[in-house]
Amino acid sequence: MFEALSEQPADKILALVAAYKADPREAKIDLGVGVYRNADGQTPVMRAVKTAEKRLWEVEASKSYVGLAGDPGFADVMVDLILGDAVPRNQIAAAATPGGTGAVRQAFDLALMAKRDVRIFVSDPTWPNHLSILKHMQIETIPYRYFDAETRGVDFEGMMADLSVAKAGDVVLLHGCCHNPTGANLNLSQWQEVSALLQKTGATAMVDIAYQGFGDGLEEDAQGVRLLARDLPEMLIAASCSKNFGIYRERTGLLMCLSSDAERHSVNQGALAFLNRQNYSFPPDHGSRLVTMVLQDPNLRADWTHELEEVRSGMLSLREQLARELKTLSGSDRFGFLAQHRGMFSRIGATPSQVDALREDHGVYMVGDSRMNIAGLNAQTVPVLAQAIVTVGV
Ligand code: LMR
Repeated sequence: MFEALSEQPADKILALVAAYKADPREAKIDLGVGVYRNADGQTPVMRAVKTAEKRLWEVEASKSYVGLAGDPGFADVMVDLILGDAVPRNQIAAAATPGGTGAVRQAFDLALMAKRDVRIFVSDPTWPNHLSILKHMQIETIPYRYFDAETRGVDFEGMMADLSVAKAGDVVLLHGCCHNPTGANLNLSQWQEVSALLQKTGATAMVDIAYQGFGDGLEEDAQGVRLLARDLPEMLIAASCSKNFGIYRERTGLLMCLSSDAERHSVNQGALAFLNRQNYSFPPDHGSRLVTMVLQDPNLRADWTHELEEVRSGMLSLREQLARELKTLSGSDRFGFLAQHRGMFSRIGATPSQVDALREDHGVYMVGDSRMNIAGLNAQTVPVLAQAIVTVGV
């Protein structure tokens, strides 16, 4: 029967990881996959996570199942981290998922369960795996303008025009912060306008928030999602702990389904548990338990917040250094957007052949659409990259 299967296209981001590894050059620079790395190129276990892990090893007495929606304590701390007091807790159905991707997948599944012919509006561009999952699930996808290739900022007028045709029963997928792949983000007044438009059209918002704490700060990065949660009668939120807790391989995420209709709450909660059961039964527990321990213990939480802040400010300094170097080398301000973008990524606007030249001639690996991971740099490699960018003619 498997003769019917055809070769699947390689995931562009993950293929880059393999290509980088296979490159024998010493002086290569990996700006591909969205994994945080410190100045030594390491992705360390965060201190608070390590401490929690030690404690957990001491106290955990059973590995028996937890619950289909995961540990409710995990949902509580995550709801608090992401939404603060924007919405009463009893309006939020939530279930743990295997990573943020698991939450995204379950959200699409929930939307399908609610409406077989659901249409999902996605930013152009968006994280390529959003598109890949949607295609695999045969969900109709409608791109909306998002990135202005000239300014490397948000094409807000285009975005609003394209979203104005969304209707009740459609889902509008938004990135909560640190837009992947562009690095260009909405400001608060733009979030307000998006909220007003969604209220007018009746389309359902879905926010994917995978980089809280990597942009302007933990609270600041949640402003947009909190605003929507306050304003809209219902919405979906897919959250990841991979990046801000550095627990990528533990697969830790949460899907939330908000409804201001109290009667919907238990139906929604049941649907999330049901979908977990259908797709993988119980969600992983280890990572979510660590997150819960870190967030519930004031000392661990303070230490985690501090370390996350160092990560964030380190990336911001690299952005500023790169923008400065490029200003000097190019004699223009055209790379100023690098210091305005937030999060791990920036799309620098190189053509595919310039991206190829960066890789082949300079050992600089970035995704084909010219998305680069700022955390792949350090103070020594920034000038090397800047020179390469200018040499290939970006
Ligand atoms: C990325 O965009 O590089 C990350 O989210 C990792 C991934 O799974 O693609």
